[in-house]
Amino acid sequence: MINCLHFSTIDSTNTYLKEHYASLQHGTIVQADEQTAGRGRFTRSWISDKGGLYFSVLLKPTTTNFLPNLTQLMALSVANALKKLGLTPNLKWPNDVQVNGLKICGILSEAIASSSGISALIIGVGINVAQQSVANVGQPAISLRDLGITISNEDLLSSIFDYFWKYYEQVLENGFSVIAQSYKNSFSALGKEVTIKNENQIIKGIAKDVSDNGTLILQTDLGPQEIYIGDLIV
Ligand code: BTN
Repeated sequence: MINCLHFSTIDSTNTYLKEHYASLQHGTIVQADEQTAGRGRFTRSWISDKGGLYFSVLLKPTTTNFLPNLTQLMALSVANALKKLGLTPNLKWPNDVQVNGLKICGILSEAIASSSGISALIIGVGINVAQQSVANVGQPAISLRDLGITISNEDLLSSIFDYFWKYYEQVLENGFSVIAQSYKNSFSALGKEVTIKNENQIIKGIAKDVSDNGTLILQTDLGPQEIYIGDLIV
């Protein structure tokens, strides 16, 4: 694959790109067979044993209005690749992917800011593919192997990026609306009672909608609330 750097072992593909982004091109993908210090959202660690797919893509976006939606596009790209394998994936807002209610993919996006604004966005993706056993990172998990599916990491990666690059420019320019329908079609918590947990608070409500910005609209006892970040629990 063009612009793909492959490592057998690395600390973290996200960390590698954070350290080397200045000398690397837009679109560079870093993939590793295992990570010794894989990182997840909210400073959690991401256990990254051999057999999983661990990669990060370096984006140098020409406009920065819709950066969070690029992460949602990545989640949708993973979901689309899983659909092609005959699965029925579920998106767990904002950007986890589940199968049978169990986590199969997590995504960590990190922006690199400079005095002139955001100079790069790193989207890191971990997918449970063929590990001997999957780590329960914050929530019960499942792998493709558990589901009886065999696919090489290369084929899975290329299926994900077929979709991602197809919609990248459109989402970059126009935001969530480009993928809204596809995203909502795979977001099974819509209409259900959910809990949102983030570092500061726990909010309960009905997941009413995903806004035009990709934020979650939660109907709470105090009225509708727009949620920008958090872990969704059904
Ligand atoms: C989460 O669900 O908390 C996000 C997990 C993201 C893990 C991936 S694996 C590849 C990339 N490198 C990292 O250190 N983290 C991301």
